[in-house]
Amino acid sequence: MVRRSVDECRILDLPKICDPRGNLTFIEGERHVPFDIRRVYYLYDVPGGSDRGSHAHRDLHQFVVAMSGSFDVELDDGRSKKRFHLNRSYYGLYICPMMWRQLDNFSSGAVCMVLASELYSENDYVRDYKAFLDLVGRQE
Ligand code: TYD
Repeated sequence: MVRRSVDECRILDLPKICDPRGNLTFIEGERHVPFDIRRVYYLYDVPGGSDRGSHAHRDLHQFVVAMSGSFDVELDDGRSKKRFHLNRSYYGLYICPMMWRQLDNFSSGAVCMVLASELYSENDYVRDYKAFLDLVGRQE
């Protein structure tokens, strides 16, 4: 398994068609995000103070967009951590596999849309932080 670095995860700008009738943004798989999109899910009605995530994915690539409101994403590759604030629908955060992530600081009305490279599979999750550290340690 390739050792992943938090530096691979980055903000990607999306096309924005500005129009007095309302702006439009679009996302094409393998063009605007570095993977083919096989699944879309979203978090909404998140109560103030709630955290989401707290796990890693073995093989999944994801792209996270704040469709409305704002929230923070903290990424951890087992050595380094980076925190991103997402608050616009015309950019998003690309997350490569094997990143421990936590989403928090949700504003009221926030909607977090996630594009994913694979269908849902519980086997792809690493939900125990110590197991995650063991896995990334073993990749050296
Ligand atoms: P989970 O990924 O743990 O939530 P988050 O990381 O956003 O806090 O998923 C929560 C529950 O939803 C879990 O029981 C699995 C289920 N789920 C699906 O059935 N399909 C999906 O595509 C996702 C993302 C989750």
